[in-house]
Amino acid sequence: MFTEKDFIRNKYKKTEKTFDLTAQAPSNIALVKYWGKYPKQIPMNPSVSFTLNKSKTTTKAIISPNHSNKDINFKFYFKGKHKPDFEPKIKQFFQNILKYAPFLKDYFFEIDSKNSFPHSSGIASSASAFAALTKILILLEKQITIENKNEDFWTKKTSFLARIGSGSASRSIEYPVSIWGKHPNLKYTSDLYAVKPDFEIHPIFNNYNDSIILVEEGQKQVSSTAGHKLMENHPYKNIRKQQAFDNTIKILEILKNGNVVDFIDIVEQEALTLHALMMTSTPNYILMQAETLQIIHSIRKYREQTGVNLCFTLDAGANVHVLYPEINKIEVLKFLETLTTKKIIHDNIS
Ligand code: PMV
Repeated sequence: MFTEKDFIRNKYKKTEKTFDLTAQAPSNIALVKYWGKYPKQIPMNPSVSFTLNKSKTTTKAIISPNHSNKDINFKFYFKGKHKPDFEPKIKQFFQNILKYAPFLKDYFFEIDSKNSFPHSSGIASSASAFAALTKILILLEKQITIENKNEDFWTKKTSFLARIGSGSASRSIEYPVSIWGKHPNLKYTSDLYAVKPDFEIHPIFNNYNDSIILVEEGQKQVSSTAGHKLMENHPYKNIRKQQAFDNTIKILEILKNGNVVDFIDIVEQEALTLHALMMTSTPNYILMQAETLQIIHSIRKYREQTGVNLCFTLDAGANVHVLYPEINKIEVLKFLETLTTKKIIHDNIS
């Protein structure tokens, strides 16, 4: 286990070199949802996610000595186009992690990012974006540090820093399952970074599919920062916390024993709870669209009629993630074709 102190480093080589670095990080979909946080990006409850295989952010950075001044100095591009709108969020992130990455001030960063999935498609781009950017910083740190650290340390530090950018980004570092948030019964878990389960995932979950139906493309109705805040005085806060702690244990047991029917129960309950919490907060939000509900009903009907173990989950938006085993892929893809005319992104965990 690492503590916050372990990630504060100050001993670096001074170098006039320019670095040309590239990193890639995946998006992830939560099975047990993170919703609500304490100061310093400490989650209100543990969460568990599948790491996606195809929905990724690739970030390149040219990092040269910062001669102009000794403040944070960078430019952010998206697919080669300068995006000043994105820079305040990144600046805030750099400021927040300065204690753990003081070398940030010694360099000028030209950052260029792209996603393998459509922008504003409702896929958690902030998770993969902050994870990829953090990977770049860790690649740099590894080259300039004079301390000897093993890969486990670097992986945990990547998750630790990415978490400060976006909580769910902490779970976009390792495959195929990540747990973020301290659970008293799971000694290896932490609020500071995500970890892999300490057991083998059941083979039924190998290549488990996630087909993402884009019911609504575009900007989110509620930012996740505002969303997490709604939990602070939520009337169901304590009940929700207890449920998430319990569901974390249950889902991990299921990921070990391969009980797909129990998996469906927990995953759908978590998705609906997330939306129920938003519908019952002050102010309240209805993020599902009519088509979201239609799709949910059709998925349940199809499951009842065919016995195929597909299920749905939702993020903080109207899009539907359809999760199903690899053995059912052919029939589920056929069913999805009849289900909607909306764009579908087919991904899987690996
Ligand atoms: O990482 P954030 O702050 O964008 O929060 C993400 C919250 C959910 O996507 C709704 C749930 C989760 O655990 O990913």
